[in-house]
Amino acid sequence: MKEIKTVGIVGFGVMGAAIGLNAAGAGYKVVYKELNDELVKSMYDRWVVKALKKRVEKGKLSQEQMDQVTARINGTTKYEDLAGCDLVIEAAVEKMDLKIQIFEDLSRACPQDTILVSNTSTFLIEKLMAKVENPARTAGLHYFFPANVNRLVEVIRQKATSDDTYQALMDFAAKNGKVAITVKDFPGFAINPVFIASYMVLDSFYGDQYNVATLESISQEALGVRFGIMWVQNGSGLGTCYHAGVSMVEYLRESDMGYPAMPEALKAQFESGQPWNLEDGPVNEDAAARAKVKERLLGTIFAVSTHLIEKEVVSLKDLELGICTALAWPKGPFAMMNDMGLEEAQRLVKVAVDAGDIKLPKAFSGAVPEPWPL
Ligand SMILES: NC(=O)c1ccc[n+]([C@@H]2O[C@H](COP(=O)([O-])OP(=O)(O)OC[C@H]3O[C@@H](n4cnc5c(N)ncnc54)[C@H](O)[C@@H]3O)[C@@H](O)[C@H]2O)c1
Repeated sequence: MKEIKTVGIVGFGVMGAAIGLNAAGAGYKVVYKELNDELVKSMYDRWVVKALKKRVEKGKLSQEQMDQVTARINGTTKYEDLAGCDLVIEAAVEKMDLKIQIFEDLSRACPQDTILVSNTSTFLIEKLMAKVENPARTAGLHYFFPANVNRLVEVIRQKATSDDTYQALMDFAAKNGKVAITVKDFPGFAINPVFIASYMVLDSFYGDQYNVATLESISQEALGVRFGIMWVQNGSGLGTCYHAGVSMVEYLRESDMGYPAMPEALKAQFESGQPWNLEDGPVNEDAAARAKVKERLLGTIFAVSTHLIEKEVVSLKDLELGICTALAWPKGPFAMMNDMGLEEAQRLVKVAVDAGDIKLPKAFSGAVPEPWPL
């Protein structure tokens, strides 16, 4: 198995810098590449110096520790300077052609055994690696925002990914203090298909009876979370939410799995340039009105999760673990189904199917299934 000591990062923005800080904090040497000298400096000042200084001021890090971490991070504008890296993580902007080009350039600049991975949110890894020599050393390594705090990492095995590459990445994730789950190369991988479907369904109710405050409150109640799905959308940025939703619809709505349609309300809110207003009026407390949303929301979450298991995108255990870790839900979808009973879970799945949000997973197409083996 390849031993990783030096990590390259292409694109030192929100995600790349947090991934770099995380790795440097775990003792790895980090070399990041940005577009020009100005960005090399400004990104370093913004994401490394400013962020670490804050932690020193708050007493969470000593000056000595800060100096050790900063000394491990260096920037460049040239791919050739990444030639000494054992692993290169691409975290540039979400544009397919750009990413394909970056991997072609990396393939040329780095030795044949340098592991090359992408942190893409929406593109299939196999496509991004189309021009890489020796694709056995490629995979996906999908971090979650904020990447130095959120502990989940999806390790994505594309068809060509070798066992050695996979093992080296699992080992790297563990040494970075991450919880790693193993996922197949699938649109959105494992966690985002569930998360994106949940906000698409919730947002589709926005209007008349349901203001943002009500939808936020229903999602908090349905999932048992402190910060509901409207709040989380604001955190991710509605632009990101909208574009990711469009991509999922393109990939999956016509597939044998189906997918919720893009709600007009999300498109309009994103185009307004404003986040959801979480305090836009009184919360609707009418039990029947709330149940209508809750059933569709949970039914969709249960159905999408079941499809992912049936398609072997991820194991049931990893999906539960991944959702609880990345999204901070106290219970994953399968535990929720077991808790309410499979008869009720099946009823909710059928509510979502009848609403056109999703197609019926095999597990729910006959008699009431057995509880899930957690
Ligand atoms: N923001 C999130 O919540 C999130 C979560 C998971 C994954 N991602 C994915 O991570 C990637 C980065 O997203 P982000 O939010 O950090 O974006 P960002 O815009 O903050 O950062 C991207 C950086 O890449 C740099 N860049 C662009 N082309 C480059 C090139 N050829 N060489 C070197 N640097 C280049 C840009 O200058 C910029 O600093 C995207 O693929 C995104 O889908 C984002």
